Amino acid sequence: MVKLAPSILSANFAALLEDVLEVEKAGAEYLHVDVMDGHFVPNLTIGPPVVRALRPASSMCFDVHLMIEHPEFYVEQFISAGADLITVHAESSGHLHRTLSLIREKGALAGVALNPATSHVVIEYILPLVDLVLLMTVNPGFGGQKFIPGMLPKIKAVRKMLDDSGSGAELQVDGGINLDTARAVTEAGATILVAGSAVFGGGDIASAVQKLKHAAAGGWAR
Ligand code: DX5
Ligand code: ZN
Repeated sequence: MVKLAPSILSANFAALLEDVLEVEKAGAEYLHVDVMDGHFVPNLTIGPPVVRALRPASSMCFDVHLMIEHPEFYVEQFISAGADLITVHAESSGHLHRTLSLIREKGALAGVALNPATSHVVIEYILPLVDLVLLMTVNPGFGGQKFIPGMLPKIKAVRKMLDDSGSGAELQVDGGINLDTARAVTEAGATILVAGSAVFGGGDIASAVQKLKHAAAGGWAR
């Protein structure tokens, strides 16, 4: 069963709690929190106080995607604010092995993310340290971008890598996931779909969540 991780980047920040409660009620398993620092990516978003404020209201898995330089400096703050899963970029962590070990040591699940241009071979030696691999299917920084179809072979390659190594890590895809792309990424082997604008960008949030899950599972979604 494919799981859904709505990204609050596209939610209504003036009514954030309502949006979060609505996706949870509709069946989303993860809450994807996009953290950007204006350096690693050309945009600024939110930090630990937002995670801390939402935490008591929800039992979804709080999935924090750090698009920042020096993610190791902020791991503890996000975990103490209530993050269940912390994902760091291979490109921003000079000592990826150490950062992933730190995340687990401090009590959270550890994820590694790869930008579109980064080959999956860079994660070969740290696979035993990860609970999730996140493949970016757009260049990170903004919601509402178009899915890069050239990422499908990479999703398949990572699926094979995880299976061959006996890793039980989740395979998450992020960027441009909607009713047109959800099935292809699932067929390629993704187990968690991040979706921002496809969930929060239209009118009915609950129906968007259900339709996306249905489409991902191969059903008719329109
Ligand atoms: C992009 C973020 C994504 C983004 C997804 O930098 O990591 O999580 O919010 O948004 P959509 O689903 O609109 O592409
Ligand atoms: Zn993200």
